[in-house]
This record gives sequence, structure tokens and C-alpha cells, in this order.
Amino acid sequence: MGIELLARSVLGGYVAGVDPSDEMVEQARARNVKAVESSRVDLRYGCVERLPFEDHTFTNALAMNAMHVWPDTVAGLRDMRRVMTPGGRMALGFTSYSWQSKDGLPAMLTAAGLTEAHVVEAEAGFCALAITPSSTMMGECHLTGGWSGPAWKRSAMIPVLVAASRSTAGRETDC
Ligand SMILES: C[S@@+](CC[C@H](N)C(=O)[O-])C[C@H]1O[C@@H](n2cnc3c(N)ncnc32)[C@H](O)[C@@H]1O
Repeated sequence: MGIELLARSVLGGYVAGVDPSDEMVEQARARNVKAVESSRVDLRYGCVERLPFEDHTFTNALAMNAMHVWPDTVAGLRDMRRVMTPGGRMALGFTSYSWQSKDGLPAMLTAAGLTEAHVVEAEAGFCALAITPSSTMMGECHLTGGWSGPAWKRSAMIPVLVAASRSTAGRETDC
């Protein structure tokens, strides 16, 4: 569901996602067949600690109800930062079913090299937000528009672990 919503909101770019469970990836691909076929969505098996993408590829990154199961949180956040453009925005969303605590989240994001880390409360849960520091920029970068706004490099978004189901069954890769 999240991937479908993101794919609709990204204009002129694409949405990529990874999960180490083949069942999760297959379910997400099945729900997004047309978008996958038209290359607006790219879903792969993979781990957040070793994302199969080049440095500075994505303008935004999202992980939904996922960070609490990663084996190494800071390593995962660092690799998300690596694949994001300078000034890119990261969001970690949590509903109550995740049992994730808000405590320490901004510190974790800061430890992973992100800036402006803070938590925003919402009715359905909360979201930790942060920015990729612009000190690593190779040129001038302006953040404009919303999540689907004009991009500095390539308008794209990587929803790490956004998937169509809450099931974690199926073969898992070696994360
Ligand atoms: C609780 S589920 C959440 C799935 C989905 N985002 C949702 O909200 O329904 C957590 C997901 O994290 C995935 N996962 C576990 N370890 C991971 C890792 N190291 N890197 C990426 N994904 C991982 C699991 O396979 C599972 O699909």
C-alpha cells in the first residue's frame, strides 16, 4: 500500500524498495505489477545494511515499521544515508504495532550521520525525520517542494522495507 501511494506521488522519478524476505518482495511486486513493468517501481531482495544501490541515488528514503527488526540499526541508517543525495530527507514511520520506543531515535539518526533529527507525533503513531547533511554536497543543492517535489538530482525515493504485508515468512537472505 505504501509503495502504491509513493509511486503515485513521485513525479518524474521512481520508487525503489528492498526486503530480505522473498515473500514480502513477491507480494509487493504483485501489488505493483503495472508500476514495476513501467519501471516506476523497483523492488529487490536485499538488506538495509547493504543496499544494492549506488551512492547519492535517492532524494528521499522511508522505512515503515521496520527499523526495530534490523540487526544493526545504525549500520542500516548509515547505508540509507549513503544512497541518498545531500539534503535528502529520511523518514522512519512507526505505528503502535511496532512497539518501537521514541526514546533515543534522534540520537540514532545523528549517530548515523544525519542532521535535524526529530520525532513527529501522529494519530496512528509517530515518525522520526532527518536530513542528509549538505556538507557532502558536490555542488549547490536546493530542497524544493514536498516529497514529490522537483529534485536536485534524480527524483526518486527508496522506501526501504515498505511492503504490502506484515508477514515476514519466506526465505530470507543473509543480512
Ligand atoms: C514488521 S515487518 C514490516 C513490513 C512493512 N513495512 C509493514 O509495515 O507492513 C519488517 C520487515 O523488515 C524486514 N527486514 C528484516 N531485517 C531486515 C534487514 N536487515 N534489512 C531490510 N529489511 C529487513 C522483514 O523481512 C520484514 O518484511
